[in-house]
Amino acid sequence: MKVGIIGAGTMGSGIAQTFAQTDGYEVYLCDIDDDLAATGKAKIEKSLMSRVSKGKMEQAEADAILAKITTGTKDICNDADLIIEAALEVMELKKALFLEMQDIVPPTCLFATNTSSLSVTEIGAGLDRPIIGMHFFNPAPVMKLIEIIRGENTPDELKDKIDEISKSIGKTPVDTNESPGFVVNRILVPMINEGICVYETGVASVEDIDIAMRLGANHPMGPLQLGDYIGLDICLAVMEVIHAETGDSKYRPSPLLRKMVRAGKLGVKTGIGFYDYRK
Ligand code: 3HC
Repeated sequence: MKVGIIGAGTMGSGIAQTFAQTDGYEVYLCDIDDDLAATGKAKIEKSLMSRVSKGKMEQAEADAILAKITTGTKDICNDADLIIEAALEVMELKKALFLEMQDIVPPTCLFATNTSSLSVTEIGAGLDRPIIGMHFFNPAPVMKLIEIIRGENTPDELKDKIDEISKSIGKTPVDTNESPGFVVNRILVPMINEGICVYETGVASVEDIDIAMRLGANHPMGPLQLGDYIGLDICLAVMEVIHAETGDSKYRPSPLLRKMVRAGKLGVKTGIGFYDYRK
């Protein structure tokens, strides 16, 4: 099966790695230009090389995985069987992308979006085929869950096929109905936002908040470290969607979160967030 991934950022490249590591899949990893797509593949190479250097993978296996990933712009997906869109969390961008993709790919090609909170129904409106949410978690090669999100017009057959594909790549799918943030982000991102509010109101330091949640709640990362890891821009975008869609003030983004995003302090990807990654 040929899988076209649109967007070669953190999630797109992680999803590409996940498929390429599984027998029976070839991957097209695409972005707006060849260089960005190649940068996505370079991230995968780095991740595989780290496994090789730890003795957890043979060099030949890493080479074979990389050989299954072709990079370029979206036109290379012209014989894809499945498109997974992992572009920026901007509704108009996602809608326009799928409209363009339906003229590139075969009529039988399946459409899925990795949106982290937007309406699958709205993304799919006006397309010539149904669409489904296939929400991966970062780091995609490691995290076992995929949320399968049915929009208003998603048929059972598409859901069943995406369930099967998810299981074939070693993931556990859970069904969710369309709702802002679905299940995980509806719970997780407000928790990160609350962690930021706790820091903002002087309850504890960044480090102590993270230690408290790691050791007191057994979370693998504290909320501020996790916000940096996900990307504070993504956290803000998710909070804004949940807040706007529910109208509930309990989902109000923290002013500090807004300020940090405005300052370009987005976390790991920009080298600084609640922690400094530039050293
Ligand atoms: N790509 C591929 N593999 C990776 C990786 C990456 N980016 N990061 C870590 N790994 C692998 C490592 O190679 C290692 O594999 P090995 O056991 O075979 O050697 C394994 O994962 C564990 O990694 P480490 O030993 O380096 O580090 P940790 O044990 O601390 O685990 C972690 C790292 C898995 C990231 C862990 O800290 C964790 O689970 N953190 C929480 C992640 C989380 O909550 N993700 C969800 C975010 S929400 C989201 O994505 C939704 C979105 O819409 C916002």
